[in-house]
Amino acid sequence: MADVFVLAGPPGSGKGTQAKLLAPKLGVPHISLGDLLREAVRNRTRVGEIAKGYLDAGKLVPDQVAIDVAEEAVTKKECKNGFVIDGFPRTLEQAVLFDKLLGKLKFNLKKVLYIDISLNVILQRLTGRRSCSGCGAVFNLQFNPPRKEGTCDECGGPLRQRHDDTEEVIKVRYDVYREQTTPLIKYYSKAGKLVQIDGSKPVNDVFKDVSEAIGI
Ligand code: AP5
Repeated sequence: MADVFVLAGPPGSGKGTQAKLLAPKLGVPHISLGDLLREAVRNRTRVGEIAKGYLDAGKLVPDQVAIDVAEEAVTKKECKNGFVIDGFPRTLEQAVLFDKLLGKLKFNLKKVLYIDISLNVILQRLTGRRSCSGCGAVFNLQFNPPRKEGTCDECGGPLRQRHDDTEEVIKVRYDVYREQTTPLIKYYSKAGKLVQIDGSKPVNDVFKDVSEAIGI
């Protein structure tokens, strides 16, 4: 049975950053629900049309939309040896349906890595985040600045700020997380899958903790 790792936690906790380090180390794909939804918005697909308003407002897209997008991604053949997924599941409903889906596809949910940090650090990190519109590389003006302002170190593409990375929307996202996602802590601890990780340390130290927690 192929293993699946979930990266969970509040907005800006470093789910994406850690997933991008973990997936190549495990030799499996990284799936980001947020990235897939933003791509759908950019491509003006049917899912994108539904998702746009939710993303801009910092609210969760309806569970069925999130589940459909996740299912389409994890059933691709690249995922047959397992995958790392970040930003999904985010509600109890999604978690229950994800368990069913993994069972049906014969995947083993190995661990849910729950990265936690405070709202103050979240605000600092997200208002300073810049992403490359070419290759998707993520920088931070304070913690990991690009060598040349506004330009991606990896591909030279232009760096952009996400629409939902304003202080007002970040606070909405945090409230939504507290209300709808924190119940997953209990759900996955009961299932013996949860590992809590202190996300306030530097990126490499967090990754060391992640690696130790899953024995790689
Ligand atoms: P999504 O894109 O998943 O956003 P999020 O959960 O708010 O998380 P972020 O991507 O903002 O943060 P992250 O934890 O990945 O942090 P990152 O590594 O980038 O979702 C966006 C929207 O899509 C949602 O609001 C919702 O509308 C919708 N959606 C997505 N999934 C859904 C679902 N399942 N159901 C319903 N709706 C869904 O790091 C952040 C910054 O900090 C970067 O600049 C990075 O360089 C820096 N950084 C990272 N780690 C460290 C560190 N250790 N030290 C210093 N800086 C660091």
